[in-house]
Amino acid sequence: MNKKILLLHGPNLNLLGTREPEVYGRVTLDQINAMAAAHARTHNVELRAEQSNHEGALIDILHVSRNWADGVIFNPGAYTHTSIALRDAVSAITLPVVEVHLSNVYAREPFRHTSLIAPVCLGQIGGFGWRGYLLAIDALLGHWGLLPPPG
Ligand code: DQA
Repeated sequence: MNKKILLLHGPNLNLLGTREPEVYGRVTLDQINAMAAAHARTHNVELRAEQSNHEGALIDILHVSRNWADGVIFNPGAYTHTSIALRDAVSAITLPVVEVHLSNVYAREPFRHTSLIAPVCLGQIGGFGWRGYLLAIDALLGHWGLLPPPG
């Protein structure tokens, strides 16, 4: 294994599968983590997944990731739209971070149209359900120069 990815899920995402399935789909968090780990493994990348409903705990996990991860995939849930503290943590760790949302937040309520986190991320992926996490892995691989262009 050469690179390591932290896959970090924020508040309420532990309820995936049963939480508003018409918005977020029927796939559970465990299933997403398993699919993401399998996709990463095919590229010789190790992926560790964590989830917390608590802002401070998410900050602590990001801080610790400085010591072992090469990149982060982060769905901050509702904290996306509110948390300057999480934005500062993402800035502070200086790792490439890809923000992911299952839903297309720009097609939803206006309060979801602003991300405080996205400006300090490598980029943002949203609206593609669980596949967004696999796209985010490819985004990090591309960033590291590990995804050869097609053809
Ligand atoms: C979400 C979008 C957020 O607005 C919402 O608060 C969530 C999930 C998504 O993945 O689409 O909890 O991050």
